[in-house]
Amino acid sequence: MTMTTTAPAPVRVDMPPCDHTPRPYTGPSRDETLAMRRQYTNPTIFTLYHEPLMIVEGYMQYLFDETGRRYLDFFAGIVTVSVGHCHPKVVKAVQTQVETLQHATTIYLHPNFPLLAKKLASKMPKGLDVTYFTNSGSEANDLAIMMSRLYTGNTDVIALRNAYHGGSPGSLGLTSHNTWKFPATGDGRVHHAVNPDPYRSPFAGTPEQIATKSVEDIRDLIRYSTPGKIAAFICEPIQGVGGATHGAPNYLREAYALARASGGLCIADEVQTGFGRTGEQYWGFENFDVVPDFVTMAKGIGNGAPLAAVATRMDIAKTLTQRLHFNTFGGNPVSMAAGLAVLDVIDEEGIQENARERGRELKTGLARLQGSYPIIGDVRGMGLMLGVELVRDRGTKEPAKAAALDVLESAREQGLLIGKGGLDANILRVKPPMCITAADVEFALDVLDHAFASVASF
Ligand SMILES: Cc1ncc(COP(=O)(O)O)c(C=O)c1O
Repeated sequence: MTMTTTAPAPVRVDMPPCDHTPRPYTGPSRDETLAMRRQYTNPTIFTLYHEPLMIVEGYMQYLFDETGRRYLDFFAGIVTVSVGHCHPKVVKAVQTQVETLQHATTIYLHPNFPLLAKKLASKMPKGLDVTYFTNSGSEANDLAIMMSRLYTGNTDVIALRNAYHGGSPGSLGLTSHNTWKFPATGDGRVHHAVNPDPYRSPFAGTPEQIATKSVEDIRDLIRYSTPGKIAAFICEPIQGVGGATHGAPNYLREAYALARASGGLCIADEVQTGFGRTGEQYWGFENFDVVPDFVTMAKGIGNGAPLAAVATRMDIAKTLTQRLHFNTFGGNPVSMAAGLAVLDVIDEEGIQENARERGRELKTGLARLQGSYPIIGDVRGMGLMLGVELVRDRGTKEPAKAAALDVLESAREQGLLIGKGGLDANILRVKPPMCITAADVEFALDVLDHAFASVASF
């Protein structure tokens, strides 16, 4: 396959109109901002595009740069803006709370803290009705792992290859991409099992057979690398940073049964898949007919507020009562107000149903593009949690990393923001705020068609 640049066909569809007018931007220029970042902020931060994009305002599914140019956001602040940028109901709830009481901690009573925990319990399978609140998904996963070790008395943890569970020293041990891992990572009791993704499995067979063989790999890990007992099995129902990969429906069922037979608890990392994003179900794990012992969540619960949580059973949650446990901002009334408003909006505005319908249109359109462009090796995911894997050759599946960047850049030039992921950064991540419209989907598909035409000819 040769990669050449051709004259792309003109875009047929305009970006749908939007009645929001951004405020005139009067702050530091883009160049000044970039220079300050380079001089004063940590050197590990990165930007997505060759020419970094400056974003100064957001409104629902749209973002605005400092010149007032509008972009359709199909990456949602890395799958975080669930109901829309600056959603009026969420803004109002936060504003009202912040001018009433910003902070006091859980050493005093405030209704928002138990109200959000109660609301979350109403969305969970029966029994998972106790919540610890944290500030980030990494912290939530750390806490779930700590509780599972205390509860079971075991230390070993099984995670999956190609997983991302966070960047704290503990959760980095769960994460399974060399690109994110530092040689300083501390958690040596985590073992990474083969990923059940049928597209890149080392096993042959149907997706269901691959799922079962992948579970056998967990069995081998437990037999060879642990004392025969584990504390936990942790898994994203659909891998996010890994590129929307997931196993066949039998995978989680069989993996959970094995983990439990080995003394472990099951953790569903719903940081990206929760809150209706997979369309058919509120939680990602529900698509696979399993009930976890912990649900960890972040991102979409706050629509941009630094809010995360671990939901579990009371008997498990009680393991932390043997010592003092405290989190300064866990339960913060402003974050709780944001979470309460987000959960209301999801219900009131049919957000999950929209994720299902728009997701179906988007996936159908992406599959159509796959028919036109051999560079698209795989289209996968559920609802508005979709991945498009680019390969240089469908036979060898050699990752088309450079082309993924070119598609990203071309889409940005046309006004569409998408993400990328996977170990080789060759997977386009299409995960918009869940308030997008059918017209947005049509525009995005046209932009992507144009982008693929401009980066590859066969
Ligand atoms: C599935 C998953 N788990 C955990 C995390 C870590 O969340 P945070 O960045 O809030 O610590 C992420 C972040 O991208 C994630 O995608």
